[in-house]
Amino acid sequence: MRVRPAAHLVNAAYISKYTRAVQLMKQLPATDPRNFMQQANVHCAYCNAAYEQVGFKTEIQVHASWLFFPWHRLYLYFYERILGSLIGDPFFALPFWNWDAPDGMRMPSMYTANPTTSSIFDRLRDARHQPPKLMDLNFNGTDLNLPDSQLIQNNLSTVQVVSNSTAQLFLGMPYRAGNRPDPGAGSIERVPHNTVHDWIGDPTSRFRENMGNFYSAARDPIFFAHHANVDRMWSIWSEFGRTYTDPDWLNASFLFYDENRNLVRATVRDALTISQLRYSYQGVPILWTSARP
Ligand code: C2O
Repeated sequence: MRVRPAAHLVNAAYISKYTRAVQLMKQLPATDPRNFMQQANVHCAYCNAAYEQVGFKTEIQVHASWLFFPWHRLYLYFYERILGSLIGDPFFALPFWNWDAPDGMRMPSMYTANPTTSSIFDRLRDARHQPPKLMDLNFNGTDLNLPDSQLIQNNLSTVQVVSNSTAQLFLGMPYRAGNRPDPGAGSIERVPHNTVHDWIGDPTSRFRENMGNFYSAARDPIFFAHHANVDRMWSIWSEFGRTYTDPDWLNASFLFYDENRNLVRATVRDALTISQLRYSYQGVPILWTSARP
């Protein structure tokens, strides 16, 4: 079992293991499908109209529909296995950015430390949002400069949608073979998923690279900590017993490269629970269930 730790709680030993794994990924030959840029391009391939749906003249897009949560869960799953295999640690687990808790509402410092040498630092980030700047999960391009206590309260109530959403509201709208992309994103995908992407991306770079654009987002290692927490929200929401059971959702499948460089196909059905994928999240206090909107 792999246990994903909260990014703001990890120790130095974890950070050195993690940064070493990412560094090894970056050092792989550019043609190796496990290579860092190749892996970032897997994200790009599933969201920038790179491919058409099999048998249709319609692009495949994994955002803004019910494919959002399962696709990203599987993407992280294979990514994590690749990192673990590069350092010979079958229990290696990605960190999660605990932005739903006050102590985690900052860019985790390990991602901003040692700019010249760290494999998980990224230059293309909003300079105004470096730690200890508190995050605004509802960021819309402008910093509101609210008092910290107010911002924390707003952030907590934003995450509250997790506890009272239906499958359509939470997971996003149905998107079946032949459908046009973007039938509608779920609540968490829109906010804080999209807003945190924009909060990190560099506003002085042309397309708000890296995090502020699909094509480049996974070039920033912080992407994976952000998405681990998005995935954790799905796992918490699932505990309320809600899900889609539509076969078009369950049988939707995607291709990824595994840690042995094999191309493998995985379905939504394979990714319904984190326990079937043999990982879990470190237990941390959850304050948003009682936050006032
Ligand atoms: Cu595929 Cu956070 O985007």
